[in-house]
Amino acid sequence: MKIAKIIIIGFGNVGRAFARTIALKKKFVESRYGVSLSVVGVADSKGMALKSDGFSEYELLKLCEVPRSGVNLFSPYAYNYVDLKYMYDMVQPDIHVELTPANYVTGEPGLTNIMFALTRGAHVVTANKAPIVLKYKELLEIAKKRSLQLRFRSTVMGGTPLIDTIMSLRSEEIEKIEGILNATTNFILTEMHDKLIDFEEALKKAQIMGLAEADPSLDIDGIDAAAKLVILSHVIGCSISLDEVKRESLSKIKLRDVVEAIKEGFVIKYLAYFDVRRRETYVRIVKIPKTDVFAQVNGSLNAVRIKTDVGEILFVGKGGGGLETAHSVLDDVIAIAIGSEGGMR
Ligand SMILES: NC(=O)c1ccc[n+]([C@@H]2O[C@H](COP(=O)([O-])OP(=O)(O)OC[C@H]3O[C@@H](n4cnc5c(N)ncnc54)[C@H](OP(=O)(O)O)[C@@H]3O)[C@@H](O)[C@H]2O)c1
Repeated sequence: MKIAKIIIIGFGNVGRAFARTIALKKKFVESRYGVSLSVVGVADSKGMALKSDGFSEYELLKLCEVPRSGVNLFSPYAYNYVDLKYMYDMVQPDIHVELTPANYVTGEPGLTNIMFALTRGAHVVTANKAPIVLKYKELLEIAKKRSLQLRFRSTVMGGTPLIDTIMSLRSEEIEKIEGILNATTNFILTEMHDKLIDFEEALKKAQIMGLAEADPSLDIDGIDAAAKLVILSHVIGCSISLDEVKRESLSKIKLRDVVEAIKEGFVIKYLAYFDVRRRETYVRIVKIPKTDVFAQVNGSLNAVRIKTDVGEILFVGKGGGGLETAHSVLDDVIAIAIGSEGGMR
C-alpha cells in the first residue's frame, strides 16, 4: 500500500483535532483510497516529536493528551526544540501540514515553514491563512516549479467545500463574492438581535463559549473576513491585497442600531464584499431586508453568495471549528496522497 508521510506543524486546537481524526479514520482511508497516512512528526512552539516509521493510532491519540506546548514531553520521541531542517532530514515527509497561528503582518512562522517545505520537495496543506493571503503567488510559483501541491481548502468555510467548488467553476466568470465569512461576529450580531443585548455583552458570551479569542480584534475588526476574501480572490485568479479591503469594525454597532433595523423590517449583518470588475471590496456593517437569504444565516453559520455571468450560487454552512477544519485539512491531505490534481491555479 502507498504510504504518505505527514508532519504536523502547530499542535493546538486544529493540530490535535487533525491528529485525532487521522488516528480514528486511518483504517477507513486505507480501505477506501488504498493509501496509508503515516504521521512521522509533530511540532508546537516549544518542541517536536519524531518517529520515522510513523506514530501508531494509539500513540497519536496519546500525543493529543499532552498539555499545551507539551509535545516535548512525548518521550521517547521528543525534542526540546523545533528545527525543521533536522525534522526533514530525520523523517523525510511527503506532506507538510501547517497549523500555526496567523500573523497578517509578517506571515510568520507559517510563511518560512511553507517555503522551506516546498523547497525540500514536500506538498503543503495549510489552515494558516496568513501565508496564502500575503504571498500566494510566490508560494504557488515555487510549488508549480517543483510539481508540488499547495492546498488550503480549510482556510475559508472549512466546514463547507467552498474553495473546491469555486475551483471547479472553470467556464463561469465570477463577478461578485459576498458573504458572512466570520462565525464570531455573526454569532455576536445574532445574539444582539435575538436577545436585545449590547455588543459588549454579546462579545463576552462569545468569549465564554470559546468562539471568540481573549483578543478578538482579528474577528471584530474584520481582518479575518478580509483575509478570507483575499484568499477567494486568489482562487478566482483576480487577486486583491489585504490593504485593498476597506474595513469597518463591528465594535461600532450599538443596540439601538439593531432595534431600529428590526422596527424597519431589516437585519444587520457584517458582510464581506468583492466586486471583481470594479475591484471594490469591503468588510462592513450592512442593513439587509429580512427577506434576504443572509438574514436567515444565524449564529456561527457562514454563507457565501457567488454571482457569475451565468447566475448565482449560494453556500451556507459551518465555517471553522476544530473538527470541521481537521476534516477539511484531511480532505486536502487525502487528495494529495491519492495523486489528485487541482490544488492550485
Ligand atoms: N480553530 C479553527 O476553527 C480554525 C479554522 C480555520 C483555520 N484555522 C487556522 O488554523 C491555524 C491553527 O488554529 P488553532 O485554532 O489550532 O490555533 P492554536 O490552538 O493557537 O494552535 C497553534 C499551534 O501552533 C503552534 N505554534 C506557534 N508557533 C509555532 C512555531 N514557531 N513552530 C511550531 N508551532 C508553533 C502553537 O504552539 P503552542 O501549543 O506551543 O502554543 C500551537 O500548538 C491558525 O492559523 C488558524 O487561524 C483555525
